[in-house]
Amino acid sequence: MTRLSVNINKIATLRNARGGNIPNVLDAAINSERFGAEGITVHPRPDERHIRYQDVFDIRPIITTEFNIEGYPSEEFTNLIIKVKPHQVTLVPDPPDALTSNAGWDTIKNMDFLKKVISKFQSEGIRTSIFIETDTELIKAAADTGTNRVELYTEPYAAQFLQNKEEAIAPFVKAAETAKTVGLGLNAGHDLNLDNLKYFNQNITGLSEVSIGHALISDALYLGFENTIQMYLRELK
Ligand code: PXP
Repeated sequence: MTRLSVNINKIATLRNARGGNIPNVLDAAINSERFGAEGITVHPRPDERHIRYQDVFDIRPIITTEFNIEGYPSEEFTNLIIKVKPHQVTLVPDPPDALTSNAGWDTIKNMDFLKKVISKFQSEGIRTSIFIETDTELIKAAADTGTNRVELYTEPYAAQFLQNKEEAIAPFVKAAETAKTVGLGLNAGHDLNLDNLKYFNQNITGLSEVSIGHALISDALYLGFENTIQMYLRELK
């Protein structure tokens, strides 16, 4: 069964808009779990414009499900991960000023770098996942980095879904098969929502986890946080 990890970055974005502590990020993490989330994801960026490094330390001891931290493996980020020891670290290649993650790793070009950081995290008992597009050569190379999993970057699927869902899913089906063949675990995320999640999950075999933030938190404004998480979970059953 595919696990739902709720990305709570948007809660922090809202909090930071006013200073102070409303809405409370720790409450959001606790409540996500209470409402059924099977993991919590955060993406601390170097400018701390949403989740702050201190949030990451504060969240670690209070959650009981899986803690997934995403980010570019800079020295600062790597030190944070080693100190916090989440269950999973998801490595993304985006530059510090990126609005959101908008590409996967070139695993061939960055092979030596990825091998080094991945073995460092794994030696601390932290599972690694790397953000990747559907190119099969890059997925095969991902296996050579030693990573435990890959996270498929689903924005292109989401962008095409409403026009032609069969065409939208096809490269992801192939990518998932390749990942399985080379022994990689599989996560997915970016722009998944209540329209496109079910079809994705039904067509991708071996999907362990999806992490969803933007659409889920936006839906919660209208549908309520508990109800929204329950609705996303239903799409995954
Ligand atoms: N996966 C990664 C690597 C991301 O950077 C993000 C956005 O922070 C997500 C998943 C979740 O994307 P969305 O907010 O569109 O659900």
